[in-house]
Amino acid sequence: MPLLEVTDLRTLFATEDGTVRAVDGVSFRLEPGRVLGIVGESGSGKSVTCLSMLGLTPRRKTKVSGSAVFKGRDLLTLGEGELRSVRGAEIAMIFQDPMTSLNPVRTVGFQLTEAIRLHGRVPSSEAESRARNALASVGIPNPAERMKSYPLELSGGMRQRVMIAMALLNEPDLLIADEPTTALDVTTQAQVLGLLRDLRERTSASIILITHDLGVIADLCDDVLVMYAGRAVEQGEVRDIFGDPQHPYTWGLLASLPRMNLGARRIRAIRGSPPSLLALPKGCPFHPRCPAAFDRCREERPAAEPVAAGSAHLAACHLAPAERLAARRGGAAAAAAAATDARAPAAGAAATGATARATTGSSTEGSAPVGADGAPPPAAPEDVP
Ligand SMILES: Nc1ncnc2c1ncn2[C@@H]1O[C@H](COP(=O)(O)OP(=O)(O)O)[C@@H](O)[C@H]1O
Ligand code: SF4
Ligand SMILES: [Mg+2]
Repeated sequence: MPLLEVTDLRTLFATEDGTVRAVDGVSFRLEPGRVLGIVGESGSGKSVTCLSMLGLTPRRKTKVSGSAVFKGRDLLTLGEGELRSVRGAEIAMIFQDPMTSLNPVRTVGFQLTEAIRLHGRVPSSEAESRARNALASVGIPNPAERMKSYPLELSGGMRQRVMIAMALLNEPDLLIADEPTTALDVTTQAQVLGLLRDLRERTSASIILITHDLGVIADLCDDVLVMYAGRAVEQGEVRDIFGDPQHPYTWGLLASLPRMNLGARRIRAIRGSPPSLLALPKGCPFHPRCPAAFDRCREERPAAEPVAAGSAHLAACHLAPAERLAARRGGAAAAAAAATDARAPAAGAAATGATARATTGSSTEGSAPVGADGAPPPAAPEDVP
């Protein structure tokens, strides 16, 4: 049985400018002990997905629907009291900015011992020694002294370690880490990631790691959910996403990864910007930026479908699986050629459709190619990860 099964999660925010579809039909499963990475550009709905499950979105003017079944209970149906006891004890969350969770006017020791005692009657001496051990376990030197510090007396990296120690105090079944290293310098980032890697080995907890960095996903995760404009556009195991990525948006993310051996010259960003969630484009929300877009993409929203029968690797893209490899290696023109081959028996209609696809896919009418250098991306074979 999965530890967490999210089905058709939707979160709508009513704003003065209209309805923001921050999460728009996201589904995934998380098995015990697995690490799921949620990746996507800023504003794609990663944080709101997790906050919605935990009842942490603003109550007013927010509509959350779907289900999020955690250990057999749908979190979306629980009352505030029940949710509060799930949070902190069974599910813990670490945020990008530790100061959103740490109280600046209380010592680290006070906050840690309070978190322990909130979830069970524990003598204060035992709470203190558990708190010290927790600080030691996340590599904080001299934990007895640090217990007396106030959060603002610590460096950003130390504060994030305190946050992680606090999250782990009650041995949660699920740890959600939302961009835990984004605000840190590179060296401290590496240390905190090392800590999470270590944690993954040491505990049986499942982890959801939110990041905009696929490199972090490759390093730490078992499963991946790629989000774009509030939707899951591709999901599967890490080896699927890195070895056989199916969605043009994922190709763009992969092509943006810095390659040590290729130098900065090879770093490509995805052209254009994500759409406004107040006014999503019709059809596939990625079509204005997609190098392989064709007519159907502008009309019809693609559903997430298995890449092969029975596979847990899903992609939401109208390209047929046979067309995707060609599109990924050679851009839209190759996709069109592959589509022509695949549909050869119905020569007339299929060939016309494919030609239309080649023209629209490489045209400039509102669609920006993924490759930063303007080439239909990822064009060079060495760019295909
Ligand atoms: N309380 C809110 N009211 C209105 N819009 C919101 C609110 N919280 C988040 N959003 C919007 O929802 C979208 C998804 O946000 P978020 O999940 O934070 O993105 P990210 O992928 O960067 O974590 C963004 O466009 C954000 O502006
Ligand atoms: S090919 Fe079409 S459906 Fe697939 S990602 Fe591009 S625009 Fe979306
Ligand atoms: Mg976020």
